[in-house]
Amino acid sequence: MTWAMGYIWSHGVVLFEQAGYEVIIVDNLVNSYISTLEGIEKILGRKPQFYETDLRDLKWLEKIFQEHSFDGVIHFAWLKAVWESCENSLHYFDNNIVWSIRLFECMEKYDVKNLIFSSSATVYNPENFEFGKWVTESGSTWETTNPYGTTKYIIERILRDLTKFSCFKVINLRYFNPVGAHESGYIWEFPDEYPNNLLPYVMKVACKNLEKLHVFGDDYNTVDGTWVRDYIDVCDLVDAHLQAYQSLQWDEKYLYENFNLGTGKWTSVLELVKIAEEMSWQDIPYNVQARRSGDIGEVFCDPSKANQQLWWKAKTPLEDSVRNSWNFMQKVWKR
Ligand code: WQD
Repeated sequence: MTWAMGYIWSHGVVLFEQAGYEVIIVDNLVNSYISTLEGIEKILGRKPQFYETDLRDLKWLEKIFQEHSFDGVIHFAWLKAVWESCENSLHYFDNNIVWSIRLFECMEKYDVKNLIFSSSATVYNPENFEFGKWVTESGSTWETTNPYGTTKYIIERILRDLTKFSCFKVINLRYFNPVGAHESGYIWEFPDEYPNNLLPYVMKVACKNLEKLHVFGDDYNTVDGTWVRDYIDVCDLVDAHLQAYQSLQWDEKYLYENFNLGTGKWTSVLELVKIAEEMSWQDIPYNVQARRSGDIGEVFCDPSKANQQLWWKAKTPLEDSVRNSWNFMQKVWKR
């Protein structure tokens, strides 16, 4: 069973179904679109089972657990914009923490032990990083820089206790910066009017749907003064979920484990803009603005633990991720 059908997990549904799993999708469509289901259907040639409901609807939640015999849950039901979490923190705590606990209660009640939790690089405290130093899973996580990261950190702690004092088996996957789209061009993230994340914004500028990109700060101690991130292709990211899920199912040694999911390479904002210009053959004008509130510092990861223990490695070059995103945008804008 999977909670949510947004950008990342629409790609996960495709991969898990192709690997032979029967995926049940539950989503309230607040951060996602029913057309994503149509995109999934076009790729798979069939429609996975879908419930449009909300974690808040406990009656439905119970009903879904009663109707199916789940082997595990992949939990993606998140609000995920860093700036929004700074402006509306209590809403984030309520949605991301309180309602996750309702889901865990149901899992415990119906004896569903396996959980893949989508955690985030925002659990790390960048003040302890130095440029050129890759973040490992043992990096400091207790002092987050924004409420979104705090919600992930708190759920990680709750889950650690649930593996000690209840029946849970958990793998936490800490995502760095997911980008890209399925090569079919049928699924990606439908960008909001003003997208929060860098690549969707850049793509909307490339499509002439937005006038210019606002670069949040160019006076950082990095290669060109703009922040660097570890951009990981979404298809590589969901592939790690498959490896992690199979490890949970078959390997007794995993009770609770954290894994970084990234490439180990960094790219600055302006480097990404240049790649997007090359892949789209469009100019991407930008101006430089003040630093964005709650932004974490330069973050790129050491993915070697996942490489070694999950037999997984990110393979897709950033150029391909950007090209696939551009293909999707072309299809959406031509409709
Ligand atoms: C990337 C860089 C911005 C937009 C994301 C997710 C979060 C979490 C971690 C998984 C930053 C700059 C951006 C723009 C810009 N992922 N930028 N102009 O902040 O790293 O957070 O990764 O849990 O959910 O939101 O990603 O894409 O917003 O920003 O200059 O219009 O691009 O300052 O340096 P971020 P992002």
